[in-house]
Amino acid sequence: MDPYLLGLRLEGRRVVIVGGGAVASRRVPALLDAGADVLLVSPKVAASLEDLAAAGRIRWEPRGYRPGDCAGAWLVCACTDDPEVNAAVAAAAEAQRTWYVRADDAGASAAWTPASGQAAGTRVAVLSVDPKLGDPRHSAAIRDAVVAGLQSGRLSARHGRRHPAGVAIIGGGPGDPGLITVRGRQLLAEADVVLTDRLAPRSLLDELRDDVEIIDAGKIPYGRAMAQEHINAALVRHAQAGRFVARLKGGDPFVFGRGAEEVLACLRAGVPVTMVPGVTSAVGVPASAWVPVTHRGVAQEFHVVSVHVAPGDERSTVNWELLGGSSGTLVLLMAVERIGAVADELLRYGRSPDTPVSVIADGTLPTQRTINSTLEQVESRVAEEGVRPPAIVVVGDVVSVATEITELMRHVTA
Ligand SMILES: C[S@@+](CC[C@H](N)C(=O)[O-])C[C@H]1O[C@@H](n2cnc3c(N)ncnc32)[C@H](O)[C@@H]1O
Repeated sequence: MDPYLLGLRLEGRRVVIVGGGAVASRRVPALLDAGADVLLVSPKVAASLEDLAAAGRIRWEPRGYRPGDCAGAWLVCACTDDPEVNAAVAAAAEAQRTWYVRADDAGASAAWTPASGQAAGTRVAVLSVDPKLGDPRHSAAIRDAVVAGLQSGRLSARHGRRHPAGVAIIGGGPGDPGLITVRGRQLLAEADVVLTDRLAPRSLLDELRDDVEIIDAGKIPYGRAMAQEHINAALVRHAQAGRFVARLKGGDPFVFGRGAEEVLACLRAGVPVTMVPGVTSAVGVPASAWVPVTHRGVAQEFHVVSVHVAPGDERSTVNWELLGGSSGTLVLLMAVERIGAVADELLRYGRSPDTPVSVIADGTLPTQRTINSTLEQVESRVAEEGVRPPAIVVVGDVVSVATEITELMRHVTA
């Protein structure tokens, strides 16, 4: 017989788990998300379950299974590595007419755990019913395909869905389309209008439906400051016309991204805003070139600095003396055109001329390239190599860690 699918509402209801290994570690977080009152019976448990017990999120009885443990349960999971114990748990649950799942024997289970996932406000559960497809990887693969389809918008029930309102300010990550968050991608797929930046992951725009209006904010004229006002006005205008607006930005919207200005403009106009953080290029781009911005024993701090104005410029508020005197990693954005002035300032305030420097251009994109140098030589190397923005400059000994990693990588084949 085919199983009958139900969504169990477990809030405040007792679920008994017997066994504390890998299966229990996977099941318990989802049960807690559903609000279940979890009782775990097992002499030993995995570290993640021990943490949940210590935090008071589950009750753990550190002992073997005893008759009577299933009393009061709405659902029982038998997931020890001893089939006899699992069979005893299942028999007790059956006797008291409680649904039970046996991790070791699907055929002897009263209920099966589907491969489940969530996207676009929809919970997806998949059970393979054809015995030839009994491999759980088959259900998981279908679940993944459905969830990915919902996230990207390729799969949608457009007319039945509840339309999100207002504006979503979405951090798109440094450029690789795989580095946007799941939520960012989902909201992008639901948008009626998308306002995108030059450094946002623009290849994602190809996936949008034909009826989505795409506005290239990089092409709005009137100069930098005015352009921002026009972007703010466009966000408000489209949202007030009842359209759901996705504002797709590079990196994280709140890291030198003027995201908060857009949030304020929307809220001042009474437009609801959703904020989706992104992977900032300040950390993601160095990582893509194997540069850790911190490393035990090497750098205990890192400073992220915008060099859109040079040191010495009256508009600069950066304390270069402090940065020159510190031993922390410096991550410099918008620095390529002013790298000579920056290097001079850091040398003047105490950084050593042979401090390693890495310049990473087009980080996470297929055109990514890295130029390694020293503080003394970085200006001429950048000129020789014709490096153009966007680029991140990392100053500090962590660059040597990247050199070690890339050297080792050469000997490790995938
Ligand atoms: C106006 S800031 C925006 C930063 C963005 N909000 C973030 O969190 O990554 C633009 C600067 O970010 C850096 N940047 C952004 N994307 C980059 C990438 N893919 N590769 C290298 N640098 C990048 C460059 O320094 C660029 O000039």
